[in-house]
Amino acid sequence: MLSPKLQEAINDQINKELFSEYLYLAMADFFAAQNLDGFVNWMMVQTQEEHFHATKFINFLHDKGARVALKAIAAPQADFKSPEEVFRAGFEHEQFVTASISNLVDIAEKEKDRSVQTFLQWYVTEQIEEEANFDKLLNKVKMAGASGPALMMLDTEAAKRVYTPPPATGANPGAGA
Ligand code: FEO
Repeated sequence: MLSPKLQEAINDQINKELFSEYLYLAMADFFAAQNLDGFVNWMMVQTQEEHFHATKFINFLHDKGARVALKAIAAPQADFKSPEEVFRAGFEHEQFVTASISNLVDIAEKEKDRSVQTFLQWYVTEQIEEEANFDKLLNKVKMAGASGPALMMLDTEAAKRVYTPPPATGANPGAGA
């Protein structure tokens, strides 16, 4: 059984993951308005990643016999000055999520809940990739600068990103990991 404190913290994290999905939908919309369809695709794949992160937590709460408390999702930033600003905002957001997961680990340690500590390890590892994905693209967009052809090349590269659901393993296959 989860402690009330952990249950509340996981519910807060679900809200953050769903906000992330919302934020990246807004970024996809911004790129669509600029006809940067490859970046739209990249962000749409990212929204699927975030949806998975949220539902993995939801399935975990179900497995623990705990209720999910879905809270209101805040409206995300909709407009940006440039593609560089979008990817910087995304990178900073991922750093925020990493800190939030780290805080969850701290709570699970204080509450001495080994099952939550073990479960959270997937997210700790996942956040390394989440930050790296944004950081790499941010640096490439920075290098492209004001060069239209360089940005178009990055857009073409971003069009190739596909969503690959993590393999279902362990006693919680519905959660996908
Ligand atoms: Fe769910 Fe991008 O962290």
